[in-house]
Amino acid sequence: MSIALIVLAAGKGTRMQSDLPKVLHRIAHAPMLWHAMRAGSVLEPEHRIVVAGHGADLVEASAKEFDPETKVVLQTEQLGTAHAVAQAKPALEGFDGDAIVLYGDTPFIREETLEAMAAARSEHDVVVLGFKANDPGRYGRLVTDGEELMRIVEFKDASPQERNITLCNSGVIAANSDILFELIDSVENKNASGEYYLTDIVAIARARGLSATVVRCDQAETLGVNSRTELSAAEALFQTKARADLMENGVSFLAPDSVYLAWDTVIGRDAEIEQNVVFGPDVTVESGARIRAFSHLEGAHVSRGAIVGPYARLRPGAELAENTHVGNFVEIKNAQLREGAKANHLTYIGDAEIGEKTNIGAGTITCNYDGVFKHKTIVGKQAFIGSNTMLVAPVTIGNDAMTGSGSVITEDVPDGALALGRAKQMTKPGFATKLFAMLRAKKAKKLAQND
Ligand code: UD1
Ligand code: MG
Repeated sequence: MSIALIVLAAGKGTRMQSDLPKVLHRIAHAPMLWHAMRAGSVLEPEHRIVVAGHGADLVEASAKEFDPETKVVLQTEQLGTAHAVAQAKPALEGFDGDAIVLYGDTPFIREETLEAMAAARSEHDVVVLGFKANDPGRYGRLVTDGEELMRIVEFKDASPQERNITLCNSGVIAANSDILFELIDSVENKNASGEYYLTDIVAIARARGLSATVVRCDQAETLGVNSRTELSAAEALFQTKARADLMENGVSFLAPDSVYLAWDTVIGRDAEIEQNVVFGPDVTVESGARIRAFSHLEGAHVSRGAIVGPYARLRPGAELAENTHVGNFVEIKNAQLREGAKANHLTYIGDAEIGEKTNIGAGTITCNYDGVFKHKTIVGKQAFIGSNTMLVAPVTIGNDAMTGSGSVITEDVPDGALALGRAKQMTKPGFATKLFAMLRAKKAKKLAQND
C-alpha cells in the first residue's frame, strides 16, 4: 500500500512566545517537525506533504532539508484541522493510496504505532489513533461501541457524559486518500469553535456505511508541545528514552542522566560512554569505542576500539579509524585519523589526514587558516610529530618522518626525514648563577631604601 504523510504544521504556537514557528523548535537538535517526519518514514511514504501557515517559508526550508522531495502546501488561514488537511488535496491528485495525518508538534509517535495503524487499515476505512488519558483534559473524546469507533466529539462540544470518556483522540488519522478528501468535503464548521474539525469525518464515514476503529497507544506518544516548559519536558523525555533504548541495545553509560544525545546519535554495542558527554547531530560511535568524560562530539565518526577524551572535542568531519586515541583538550575538525593514530594532549587538528600509527605530540597545531582560505595538512604513516609543532598548511609530512619539538613547519618533509624549524639553542655556563646574584642584590637594596 502506498502512503502519503500529511503533516499539519500551520499553527502559530502563540504560547511559545517565539518568532520561530512552533514546529521548528528543537528537541535533541532536530526541529519537532523532523521528529514527526522521521516517525512517518517507517511507512516508506511515497509523498510527504507539510501543511504550513505561520512562518511558512521557514517551515518549507526545514521540511525540504529533511527531505528535498517534500511538498509544502500553504494554509493561509487556520480554519481547523479538516481545512488544513484539505490543502493537501491538489498535491495528491491522482494518488490512490492511503493518507496518514500527523501533527508537526507531536514528536513522539512511535514507528510501531504507525505500522499498527497501517495494518488496521486493511480491516477498516478510517483508523484513528487514541489513548487512555489519566486526565483527559481538553482532548477530543472517542465514542466507541466495542471495537467500532462511532464518532469523535471535541471537548468544547461534548456533553457531561461524553466528557467522562477517558479514551482520547491523538489527532493521527489514516484513511484512503480519496475517501479522506471526500469525507472532508462534507465537514461543516457549525460547532463551538466555528472550525472545520477533521474529527467530524468519523461520524460522516459511518453515516455512509464505512467503518472506523481505534488503534491505541501510550499517552506519552501523543505528547504535544505548546510552551517552552512543555518543550523542555519533551527534551527530557526524549533524552530518557533515547538513553534507555541505547542501553537496551548494549551501550554502557556510567551516568546516563549526565549524557545528552542528539535525535540521530548512533552508538554501537559494548561502547562505553562516561559522564557528562554531549552529542551534537550526526555522530556515530561504533562498537567497543570508549567516550570518556566531558567530551563534546558533533558530525563525527568514531570507529571500533577508539578512545576519545576525557575533555575531547570532535567537530564535523572528524573521522577516527579503529584504535585511534584522542585525548584531553584535543580538537579535531574535518580530519581523518587513520588506524592507530594518536593525539593525546592539547592539540588542534583541522583539515588534515593523519596516517596509520602516527603520533601527534602535545601542543601540535595544524595552522589551517590564513585568514581567508583553509589549507590541508597531510601526515603520513608512522610519523612522529614532536610536541608543540606548528604545521603551517598546506603542508605534507612523509611516512616515518619526524619533526622536532617546537618546530614551525612550513615546507613539506619527505619520507623518513627529520625536520627542525626552530632557533638553535645557546647555553652560557654559569650565567644563571651570576644573574640570580645580581637580581637578589638589587632586591635587597630596594628593601633597605624602603625601611
Ligand atoms: C486536536 C483534535 C482533538 C485532539 C487533539 C490532540 C480536532 C478538531 N481536534 O485538537 O480531537 O484530541 O488535537 O492534540 O482535530 N492545525 C493547522 N491548521 C489549522 C488548525 C490546526 O495546521 O487550521 C495544526 C496545528 O498547528 C496543530 C494540529 O493541527 O499541529 C492540531 O491543532 P490544534 O489546534 O492543536 O487542535 P486541538 O484543539 O488541540
Ligand atoms: Mg492541540
